[in-house]
Amino acid sequence: MRVTFVHADGKGRTEAQANPGDVLLDVAQAHLMPLEGTCEGQMACSTCHVIVARDDFDRLPPASEEEEDMLDLAAGARRTSRLSCQIVLTEDLDGLTVHIPAESRNMQGPR
Ligand code: FES
Repeated sequence: MRVTFVHADGKGRTEAQANPGDVLLDVAQAHLMPLEGTCEGQMACSTCHVIVARDDFDRLPPASEEEEDMLDLAAGARRTSRLSCQIVLTEDLDGLTVHIPAESRNMQGPR
């Protein structure tokens, strides 16, 4: 199955091959996406935050309350933000597109 990462500059794209059962964060890191994932999936850091393409968001199982709480703290979080460490890929998610958030210090800059 395929996952597309849109880079933080909004232009570059990385197409990744993944398998059902893979965690999205691991796939992103294996393809050198700049997601730190500091807490390794413990929902304690939000550095694995990604913004899911609007069309794909409803295909994902809803976020848990703990995940929502962490997302409230994530820099640049949007309505379709998720923690990539909480997304386990399934066949249904083939073709998923997620955006790597721009770093917080760049949020005010020209786009
Ligand atoms: S890796 Fe820390 S919240 Fe996902």
